[in-house]
Amino acid sequence: MKLLITGGTGYIGSHTVVELLNNGDEVVIIDNLSNSKKDVIEKIKEITNKEVTFYEGDVKDKNLLEEIFKNNKIDVVIHFAGYKAVGESVEKPLMYYDNNLISTINLCEVMNKYGVKKLVFSSSATVYGMPKELPIKEDFPLSTTNPYGTTKLMIENILRDLAYSDKDWSIAILRYFNPIGAHESGLIGENPNGIPNNLMPYIVKVANKELDHLNIFGDDYDTKDGTGVRDYIHVVDLAKGHVLAAKKVFDEKGIDAYNLGTGNGYSVLEMVKKFEEVNNVKVNYVITKRREGDIAACYADTNYAFEKLGFKATKTLDDMCKDAYNFVLKNR
Ligand code: NAD
Ligand code: UD1
Repeated sequence: MKLLITGGTGYIGSHTVVELLNNGDEVVIIDNLSNSKKDVIEKIKEITNKEVTFYEGDVKDKNLLEEIFKNNKIDVVIHFAGYKAVGESVEKPLMYYDNNLISTINLCEVMNKYGVKKLVFSSSATVYGMPKELPIKEDFPLSTTNPYGTTKLMIENILRDLAYSDKDWSIAILRYFNPIGAHESGLIGENPNGIPNNLMPYIVKVANKELDHLNIFGDDYDTKDGTGVRDYIHVVDLAKGHVLAAKKVFDEKGIDAYNLGTGNGYSVLEMVKKFEEVNNVKVNYVITKRREGDIAACYADTNYAFEKLGFKATKTLDDMCKDAYNFVLKNR
């Protein structure tokens, strides 16, 4: 297969490109480098010993999309490109609606024009809002609590309308739980600028002495130890889920949504302890008040993704903690 990967130099995109190349697929990347660096392309080549075609540009740019589809016989598109910071989306909602929605609509229009109607879309467990029950199944009610999440839900709805209007489309919506870790080579990984919002990048910076301590947002939740519980999934497992989803949309028409998680929930304190143990480092922390909008616990029911895609995460929490830190040590 030949795939177009939007946002392919980003965190999840780059790991997915590696898995696709290892699977023998051909890859074309478009990324405007708004949240990634061009040297990722070299790192991907170093890991896989294979070439990729890279277009530096914006998915909102229809002329560039046309050029890509004219010059490459694309079979499947995996659409990662978009903004993803929850807090920033609350401050700059228009920027989020503009980038995430317009890029997706333009992409689908150009795909339609060139008769490429096979798409895998990056959604998020955030579309389940405050789930009433756990584990979370794909048919649970959907709602959101911030503009970022709303862009994901709006795009899911747009894609459902599109698939309903034209039965030639095949679309897989992937709802990621909490991707962490990095490629075992330490060549690619997650490297947010400034102070991270998410737990694992924050822990890594504390361990690396770039930040003094971790603030644990609340220890009075109704969970095993009072701290928030999440379904952390190794980014390489997540990437492999995309290889399976790409095959699914290549083979079958229609639209469906799948959870990509492990089905296990770990608390913030468990994460800190595991990280310290596996990497033999100290992670200082302070318990502070709850973060606004946070939920107590969130983890996936993974049965549907296994049944329909054959997806099962295999990497352990030890792997996730080890690989996350290894990436930072190698890129200090
Ligand atoms: P990322 O920021 O590392 O990657 C996104 C990439 O898209 C970046 O390289 C950025 O430069 C690029 N990009 C953004 N807007 C663009 C545009 N208009 N045109 C071209 N390129 C553009 O993020 P990620 O963590 O790899 O996430 C990938 C996707 O998965 C996003 O859609 C995100 O919302 C979704 N997602 C991520 C998580 C997570 O925890 N990382 C969880 C759920 C869903
Ligand atoms: C984040 C996103 C959400 C996305 C999800 C999956 C935010 C606010 N939400 O949520 O949209 O769908 O990832 O990728 O970014 N924690 C601390 N201290 C910190 C950071 C986090 O205690 O400095 C706690 C949180 O309260 C939570 C857990 O760690 O209990 C995980 O937090 P985080 O990594 O931000 O992920 P989510 O809250 O699941």
